[in-house]
Amino acid sequence: MTNTEVFEGLEQVVVARTRLSQVDGQGGHLTIAGYPIEELAGRVGFEDMALLLLTGALPDAATRRAQQSALGRERVLAHTRLCARAAPPLGSDVMSALRSALSLLPPNATPTALLATAAVATARSCREAAGEESLSPNPELGHAADLLRTALGRDVALEEAALLDAYLVTVAEHGFNASTFATRVVASTGADLVAAVVSGVSALSGPLHGGAPGPVLDLLDRVGSKERATAVIRAELAAGRRIVGMGHRVYRVRDPRAFVLERAIRRFESADTSARLELARAVEAAAETELAAAHPERALKANVEFYTAVLLDTLSLPRTVFTAFFACARIAGYSAHYAEQRAEGRLIRPSALYVGPRAQSPAA
Ligand code: COA
Repeated sequence: MTNTEVFEGLEQVVVARTRLSQVDGQGGHLTIAGYPIEELAGRVGFEDMALLLLTGALPDAATRRAQQSALGRERVLAHTRLCARAAPPLGSDVMSALRSALSLLPPNATPTALLATAAVATARSCREAAGEESLSPNPELGHAADLLRTALGRDVALEEAALLDAYLVTVAEHGFNASTFATRVVASTGADLVAAVVSGVSALSGPLHGGAPGPVLDLLDRVGSKERATAVIRAELAAGRRIVGMGHRVYRVRDPRAFVLERAIRRFESADTSARLELARAVEAAAETELAAAHPERALKANVEFYTAVLLDTLSLPRTVFTAFFACARIAGYSAHYAEQRAEGRLIRPSALYVGPRAQSPAA
């Protein structure tokens, strides 16, 4: 018998088992390989997070140092490789440049090579946006510190590097979101890691998943002052637009990563950031109230991208590269899902309910 039930957007459909992360949408908890995200972000660095995802355990000091060196070596190689290529065609956006840079890697590239290449390509895009030459990586630095240094074109303070590190850790992995699922679909065909990761990165460029933090900053700029928050949110909704940075497919409460990122920004706090954070809190509160009135049936609260915008802006990164920074972290998750899918998964091949014309003979 044909199954006629269609699960639009695969909501609530369980398609695999994973050991990588648990997303509790009702309780608002995110656990990565057994560790609550609150215990990881701001406490371990991105090197540790990548190893946790790729090996299932947090590293000892020697393994961490080896991973830091491996990432440093790969950043230098990636820089040489990208410098040897013509610049991406004029007008190509940051995400296209990132995809192209990743695609240059050989099919047997390691997750470390992919992470390093993403960091170097993203930093290059930042320097290009500033009309400046790209900086050579410093393999002695931690991954977050060197990514930020090469992106901003200057030495960075420990606190700045720590803030980016907290961000990269927070967003490195998050269950079966659209881009991770895209990665796993490609992995399930037996394709190589580079092909699978490029498909994940491609899925990130849309505004519903990954592409929201730049527009969140545009929204904060449009609001300008706390007093205007409600009026601007109402106008957005009246114009039929979605409030960027609000709502989530899985969370029915505030995204736990929004708490973690807000905590990291507060720790960093300066006079500038506290004003920006206050504005963000006011916009979030107005959006929550207005969305509750517009959609009483569905809890629409701040998601990770809302505070991603505030955090990356605090670090003076241009909004055009926000999604690429997200990819720099999430490639750790994609790579771990790739390995899991290849080791345990079957070819992913769902069905569709045919709703086209009835079978007929072609006109004579
Ligand atoms: N602003 C206004 N309305 C929203 C909304 C938002 N941010 N998010 C959802 N809604 C509304 C939809 O318009 C829809 O209303 P309708 O039933 O009257 O048409 C209802 O809530 C359900 O939306 P739906 O698209 O089915 O929910 P989803 O689970 O597919 O959506 C998102 C999840 C994230 C795609 C959605 O909340 C969204 O578009 N958010 C803004 C973009 C964003 O921040 N993306 C980053 C996500 S991490």
